[in-house]
Amino acid sequence: MADQSAPLRAPAGTHDVLWPESARWERLVAEFARRAQLGGFGLVVNPMFEDAQLFRRGIGDESDVVRKEMYEFADRGGRDVALRPEGTASVVRAFVQHRPPVPWKAWYVTPAFRYERPQAGRYKQHHQLGVEVLGTDDPDVDVEVVALAADLYAWLGLRRVELALNSMGCAQCRPAYVAALTAYLDEHRDELRDEHRERYRTNPLRVLDCKSPECRAVTEGAPRITDYLDEACAAHLTRVRAGLDELAISYRLEPRLVRGLDYYTRTTFEFSAGSLTSAQNAIGGGGRYDGLAEAVGGPPTPGIGFGIGIERLLLACDAEGVFPVDPPLPDAFVVDVTGGAAARALCGELRRAGLGVVRAYDGRSLKAQLKQADRSGARYALIVGPEELAGNVVTARPLRAEGPQETVPRASVLQWLAARSSLTETEHLQETEHLQETEHLQETEHLQETEHPQSKGTPR
Ligand code: HAM
Repeated sequence: MADQSAPLRAPAGTHDVLWPESARWERLVAEFARRAQLGGFGLVVNPMFEDAQLFRRGIGDESDVVRKEMYEFADRGGRDVALRPEGTASVVRAFVQHRPPVPWKAWYVTPAFRYERPQAGRYKQHHQLGVEVLGTDDPDVDVEVVALAADLYAWLGLRRVELALNSMGCAQCRPAYVAALTAYLDEHRDELRDEHRERYRTNPLRVLDCKSPECRAVTEGAPRITDYLDEACAAHLTRVRAGLDELAISYRLEPRLVRGLDYYTRTTFEFSAGSLTSAQNAIGGGGRYDGLAEAVGGPPTPGIGFGIGIERLLLACDAEGVFPVDPPLPDAFVVDVTGGAAARALCGELRRAGLGVVRAYDGRSLKAQLKQADRSGARYALIVGPEELAGNVVTARPLRAEGPQETVPRASVLQWLAARSSLTETEHLQETEHLQETEHLQETEHLQETEHPQSKGTPR
């Protein structure tokens, strides 16, 4: 029988992100959100699980993600559901379900679940930042989407990032290419890796995606999709390339880049980090999926987007020694040896004004609280002992710099600390203005209430 008292651990291939590492996540997500919003993208939040059909029809039955990696199960009501292995299919399903006006630009941050053999940079649950644009096939959107990702990598300080670009053609021109590729693979069948020797006829494009040396050697000489594009797809690719050139975003044309999901049409792209081992070096990828909305039951609607793996991105940052984030340190640590009421009041007041303030609990001794204050990284200890309480003052002791301790009247602690806070002057001004406004509002409301007790909540 399993030991009932053994400590439980997170499942293999998953991980906890704890403070202070999570400060990097916060900063990254906030910056991505900021950039997405500047580009007109709005946040979309989808369920973590969907009808499994969505992914079968959207991503494709033949893709590894659906065939081998999907967390699919019957729920207690016998419905066939799956944890989302990626973000795009759900966003497109939401578009089809709610029909927002187009172009619809959505951004998201989501866990994604894939039953893969865990290794560095490959997890059973990873997290993605992504965007999707639905309702336009303007090549400018392709450029804009690629640039959004490229700019984020640059902002992080990553220098060793490569962009590979390809076009997958469309439903009109791709069949001729698939036929040519199949004929070529027929000739080289015996040189393929076992798995593909059996399967290449059902989806020959998957062979192009295979990273094994045997398959790479075969596909080196394979027909190139870019030679089979029809006029419209070729023109689309030309315009995307021109747009990237204009923005000075360098890329490599990679005709073998088909990516692992079957919904792609036309533009596909992948960013890889030169600092990571080649097996898990993709730090973001995406492309067009002009047939996906239809495949999940909606009207024909072109779309494009990307997903960036947060864990891999941060691994790349570590490898290049960029994007260190210092977690914000508190402005003050309140040391209260008079029972805790003073700390409660002081913390509340200072935090409402936007200052970072922490304290001790459990009625610890002065010595223990001072030790904790030191460890907290706070700039000041605000000490309230019996004498301070009686004199209605606080003793402010600098913790991170030399300097004398000061006796500050209790009523001016807020101003005293604000003047020394880690917030910039403007931030602080904004906080104080906001506080004053709120206080003013509260006062006015209070006045109105006392003057006209009936008026509360009466519509004007
Ligand atoms: P994807 O290439 O499968 O595309 O995943 C996007 C990114 O997620 C990858 O580039 C990688 O950084 C990260 N990633 C994928 N699998 C794992 C894993 N097992 N462990 C750690 N990180 C991983 C998509 O998911 C598409 N939905 C992207 C897209 C959006 N295409 C159009 N719109």
